[in-house]
Order: sequence, then structure tokens, then C-alpha cells
Amino acid sequence: LKVLSVASEAVPLVKTGGLADVVGAMPAALSPHGVDVTTLLPGYPAVLSTLRRPRVLHSWPSLVGTPARLLAGDLDDKGHPLFVLDAPALYAREGAPYTDAAGRDWGDNWQRFAALGRAAADIAGGAILKRGKRQQFDVVHAHDWQAALAPAYLRFAPHGAEGRRPSVITIHNMAFQGWSGPEVFPRLGLPPEAWALDGVEYHGGVGMLKAGLSCADAVTTVSPTYAREIRSAAFGMGLEGLIVERGDAVHGILNGIDAEVWNPAADVALPSRYGHRTLERRRLNKRALEAEFGLDPSIEGDGPLFIVVTRLTWQKGMDVLCEAIDHLVGIGGRLALLGSGDAAIERALFDAAARHPGRVGIRVGYDEALSHRMQGGGDAILIPSRFEPCGLTQLYGLAYGCLPVVASTGGLADTVIDANPAALAAGCATGIQFTGVNYDGLAAALSRTVALYRQPQVWQRMQKNAMKCDFSWKASGKAYAELYAALSA
Ligand code: ADP
Ligand code: GLC
Repeated sequence: LKVLSVASEAVPLVKTGGLADVVGAMPAALSPHGVDVTTLLPGYPAVLSTLRRPRVLHSWPSLVGTPARLLAGDLDDKGHPLFVLDAPALYAREGAPYTDAAGRDWGDNWQRFAALGRAAADIAGGAILKRGKRQQFDVVHAHDWQAALAPAYLRFAPHGAEGRRPSVITIHNMAFQGWSGPEVFPRLGLPPEAWALDGVEYHGGVGMLKAGLSCADAVTTVSPTYAREIRSAAFGMGLEGLIVERGDAVHGILNGIDAEVWNPAADVALPSRYGHRTLERRRLNKRALEAEFGLDPSIEGDGPLFIVVTRLTWQKGMDVLCEAIDHLVGIGGRLALLGSGDAAIERALFDAAARHPGRVGIRVGYDEALSHRMQGGGDAILIPSRFEPCGLTQLYGLAYGCLPVVASTGGLADTVIDANPAALAAGCATGIQFTGVNYDGLAAALSRTVALYRQPQVWQRMQKNAMKCDFSWKASGKAYAELYAALSA
């Protein structure tokens, strides 16, 4: 089976969040199941610069209004195939994938990502010739709103000999939907009938995610709980009705993690590598982390060293964390935080660090290696998200014995076994779950965590349980492979 996976980011080439981890891991996750995944990405400067002697597979004189070429390369050093959409007018610019240097959304994002969707539909339709033969794809897999017009083009305006191929769309985050005004519609190159309730029209404009959810043959979310949550208004963000209507076409498939990148026994970013039988070797990592964040090592016995690695946003409950920092310190905890995002949250965090020297350390920015050192040295990772489609940092925390303290939502609820009395008695707890993302809810969870930490045997048992969990791609790779097979049958 051949699958074209279409997304706006993928590790190791371009990443703003978990979407990139997942898209980058899929080819390796699917190949044991007989599925060949080719990844299609926009030609941002950072992506183009990795292509060695790029081959031009196809040229479009005009793709959604701009000239474009399709280049071939490798996604990673394992040689997983990569297609890059080279459209300088859309992608050759400084800044981040979706925003300019000042953090504002690019005004032409509709066109930048409509082109990506159109290209995907053309490729699946048979536009690409390789040694005189049409490249075939059995299924198109679109990720998030940026790729979500691919299913709409496939349904309403398929080009080429292969015509309409089946498609699946994965919702990594319902909060980002890609909406533009109605003036955009005539420029998409879709027929008039696509302007419809079961097409791209949404609230009088073009809704890209909405279009994908309407037009794809199957919809997946990145955890089973999130698949249920988005049937309600609180999580569906306006699209709950459509999700309910799609019924059995909606599947929850949990994300996995790449065990080659996230394995404490072989992680080159760590000062000291360890496994669940050699937990004492984490100590060196903790000392190094304390030094790096200016934290006082002499109060280690009072409470855990909490870490946070995140985008600083409302979704992640970072405003609530700011309110609870005084409590965290008051009960003996320390905090090392790495993140970037909302300026007001950054200020509140720096204020907290100034109030609590030696107990709170803040690093603003994006630093992959540091995130590994934090998972390998911290005691507990805090994730008080208001919603979390899957979440990856709690999975990394589990693998590293950095116990997750999580809000009971989405993928967090699906992956962490709360240390309630039953789980403690059965010896299977792996972290702490709490309900109510507000001061009281988080403060109570922090207090519970400190109490558990002060029982070293209980804590170590939880660390071992956590590290033995299997969140590899094994089961989920199989689930995707089965879905593709059903769609292409
Ligand atoms: P989301 O995609 O919603 O941001 P996830 O938990 O799915 O949340 O994925 C976030 C990914 O980005 C993880 O790989 C996490 O380690 C990484 N990450 C987030 N913020 C930072 C940061 N400031 N520095 C390094 N890595 C980060
Ligand atoms: C999104 C979600 C996150 C999920 C990630 C990868 O960014 O916010 O919960 O883990 O996508 O699927």
C-alpha cells in the first residue's frame, strides 16, 4: 500500500509542535505493516536547504495562482521518501511556518496551504511520472487544517488518470481551523458545488479544517478520549455537529513515540544514561539540571523538581500554572520551565522566578536538547492542559521516569494511570491525574505529588511502572495500516 502523507511540518526538517513529531515518525511506524509512506511538505527555506541535488518531478505553471515545482528528496537519514512543494512566492520567506517575524499569521496562509492540498490531490491523481510510469498512491493522509483542502480537491476536482483517491484526515488540534472570507473561494479552483454545507463553506467563508472533515472518507483524532470530547461544544469548537454526523467514520488512534529519539538508555543529550533498573543514575542528570536552571540542590528532600516543556498558551493551562507557582514552592517543590509563546505568561513566569530565587528557573525559547535533559533529570512533568488532543510530553515523561502530573483530558487521560488508592494497591500507577484546570485543582494535584514523592519506595515503583509502558508506534501503526487497507479496498 502506498500512502501520501501531507502536512505542514515534520521532524527532522521543520517543527513547531507535536504534529511534526508524529508526521515525521509515521513512515517508520507504517513500514513494518507493509505501508510505504511518502511525505509531502511545503518548500520552506529550511526544508529546501536539506535537499541534495533535488530532482524535479513535476512543474505547475499555476498552482492555485502561483508557479510551483515538485522536488524529491529524503525525509530523514533512513531515506524515507519526501516530496517538497517548491513555490517561492508562497514559502521563500523569513519567519515561522505560519507567522511572520512579529508572530502575526501570514495574510496569504489560505493560498499557501490551498496549494499544498491541490498539489497532494494532483499527485494522487497521477500527475507524477517516474521513468515514464505514473506514481500511484492508494490513500492520501492529510494532517490538520493546513492539509485539509486535499480531501476537498480529491472529492470535487480530481485531476489526472487516477482520479479520485480515498483520503483520511487527522485532527491534531481542533482549535486551529484555517478560516478565510468568501472572496477566497473563487481563487481555489474548486467548482461551484464545493461551496456547500457538505463542502468548504463555513460561516459564510472557507473553512479549511471543516472542508477536510466533510470531504475525507475517514477522520482520525490522536487519542480515543479526544474523539469523544470533540462531539461536545466545549471541545468541538463549533465543529462538534459535523463530528457527530460523521459517526463511525471518526476513529481515535493514539500517537506513539519514536523510541530511537526518546530512550533514556541511549539518549546522547543526557549527561548520564539510565534504564528502569538503574534509576540511581538519574541523580547526575538532576544535579546538572539544577545547575543549568540555577536551582538550589540542598532542598531536594523537600519535594520534587517539577519540569514544564511547552508552548505557553491558554490550551496548556499556563495561566493557571502561574497562579499556582507560589503554592508549588510553598509545599517544597522546585520548578524548571522551558517554553515560549504568550508574552503575558512569559512576564508572569519571570516575576515568579524573581520571587523565588533558587526555586524557580525559567528558560524562554525552543531547545530540543534541553527538553531531553529536563525529562532525564526532572522528577515530575506538569501538564495542566485545558484540552489535549494527545500530548507527547507526558509520553516522553513516562519513558524517562519523569512522572506526569496531568489534567484528565484527551490523550493525557488515555495514557497516565492516576495514583489513586486502587492503582497504588495494585502497584500500577504511573502518574497523577486531576480534574478542574483551575487554581484549586492544580494546587491539590501538586500537594498529592509532593506527598507521593516523600514516599521514595512508592515513587520509585511508579517510575518503574512508567518506564515499562509501551507507547511505541507498534499498536497505532497497525491501526493506521488497517484503516488505510479498509479505505483502499
Ligand atoms: P503541542 O503539539 O500541542 O505543542 P505536544 O505535547 O503534542 O503538544 O508536542 C509538543 C512537542 O514540542 C514535544 O515534542 C515537546 O517536547 C516539544 N516542545 C514544546 N515546547 C518546546 C520548547 N520550548 N523547547 C523544546 N521542545 C519543545
Ligand atoms: C497537537 C496537539 C497535541 C498532539 C499533537 C500531535 O499539537 O495539541 O496534543 O499531541 O498535535 O498529534
